[in-house]
Amino acid sequence: MNLAIETVLIPQDEIEQKIKELAADISRIYQNEEIILLSVLKGSIVFLVDLMKQLTLDVEIGFLYLSSYRGETEAQGAVKEYELPFPAIENRNVILVEDIFDTGASLNYAKKRCMELHPKSLRTCVLLKKEEVQMQEPCTIDFLGFTIPDKFVVGYGLDYREKYRHLPYIAVPRLGNH
Ligand code: IMP
Ligand code: MG
Repeated sequence: MNLAIETVLIPQDEIEQKIKELAADISRIYQNEEIILLSVLKGSIVFLVDLMKQLTLDVEIGFLYLSSYRGETEAQGAVKEYELPFPAIENRNVILVEDIFDTGASLNYAKKRCMELHPKSLRTCVLLKKEEVQMQEPCTIDFLGFTIPDKFVVGYGLDYREKYRHLPYIAVPRLGNH
């Protein structure tokens, strides 16, 4: 395997603990209501799976496939949406699930897209937010896992050139010539 890690930023047990806390918050806020977790592909898939298992609510899942980034180490700002049937969210409680908040372009795009379809409520759940983030437009994160330094990170769904997604922790990769 060619993957090289510089440092582990958030170990697996800390992610697991944080997800339990986020799930408890979500379960408390929605009480006996149903929710749809709308996962922004591909990065949030690992987070979605672990989060949904901890919820004590009726949960459905759906997917939105966005790309705002070149596959390298910089977020790009312009958001591209890939064709995928959009889940029926009219008059439903929707939580957008996103892996990382960098410029906020992806989450803002996803929120606008959802609002066009008139959900009953719309909130956002984001695992990582980079500190000192240069937000293009203000964007509220309702449920946030960790604030991290402004470094490129991989693992737990996050990739570098499509690799590293399977790592069970968040790490700073050593980006060499592979
Ligand atoms: P935003 O639209 O600028 O907030 O960028 C968010 C998207 O860029 C995420 O959904 C990721 O796919 C990607 N991204 C941003 N920062 C990183 C990183 O540090 N590692 C891997 N992907 C990242
Ligand atoms: Mg992503």
